[in-house]
Amino acid sequence: MKKIAIMNQKGGVGKSTLTYNIAHGLSLRNKKILLIDLDGQNDSSLFLGYSSEDNDDNNKTFFHLIDKRYPAKLHECIKKARHNLDLIPNSNISQIEAEFNREARIDLLLNEVLKDLNDMDYDYVFFDSGPQRTKINDAILCYVDSIIMPVQVEAASVRATGNMYDYLSDLRLDGDKIKMIIPNMMDKRNNDAKENLDILKMTHEDSIKITSPIYRRVKITEAGKNGQSVFEYDKESQKMFIEVVKTIEEEI
Ligand SMILES: Nc1ncnc2c1ncn2[C@@H]1O[C@H](COP(=O)(O)OP(=O)(O)OP(=O)(O)O)[C@@H](O)[C@H]1O
Ligand SMILES: [Mg+2]
Repeated sequence: MKKIAIMNQKGGVGKSTLTYNIAHGLSLRNKKILLIDLDGQNDSSLFLGYSSEDNDDNNKTFFHLIDKRYPAKLHECIKKARHNLDLIPNSNISQIEAEFNREARIDLLLNEVLKDLNDMDYDYVFFDSGPQRTKINDAILCYVDSIIMPVQVEAASVRATGNMYDYLSDLRLDGDKIKMIIPNMMDKRNNDAKENLDILKMTHEDSIKITSPIYRRVKITEAGKNGQSVFEYDKESQKMFIEVVKTIEEEI
């Protein structure tokens, strides 16, 4: 079971968009996937067509796993999103953050909360997460083996890629956990974009894999708004995502 965070401290770079599409892409290649959505807006869950209104008292989320008095069982919180693709959405994210803040051993926390995963047969567990440094993100970074960093192909984002290394270092984690960069929202007809992609490659290609870019395409946003993945909505975007999915299968 490979444990992967799709993370960047920067907001709006495509973390949720990439997470759910990659998860669905891998599931279509016969891999068993669990997506744990710890993005406060539940974006990757919503993009998969799951709505928080689906949560009633019996419909448990990640939040219920950390209930101290009556912790839910892991299997009770898992929803079936697609064939081979399961989902744990969240609720009450600020309470989760507050709870994590009280924990002395953030490095062991998710190992404990998710220990039943060891008896399940997932090939990949993906985490979608919010931006910024948070206790939730600290816990995810400690738990995963690999980090995939989406980087928006524009100057400020490309310059900011070092921030994730600083974050890991402050947590005393090895920068080698960052295994891959996915250049996202690349503009086809923009020379700056090509230049920024070159800078990204020059800076990182020696140490980590840089996938083929995901171009900016309105249909990618539309798919999410429709509760569908690009594999259900748009053939052109599919081609780009399948390249990335294959690279993940080969490299991680
Ligand atoms: N390749 C793309 N082409 C067009 N639109 C995109 C692409 N990637 C992401 N988007 C759009 O950009 C917006 C931000 O993407 P997304 O919500 O995935 O970012 P995020 O990093 O998860 O944001 P946050 O930090 O708020 O969690 C969304 O509206 C999404 O549809
Ligand atoms: Mg998001």
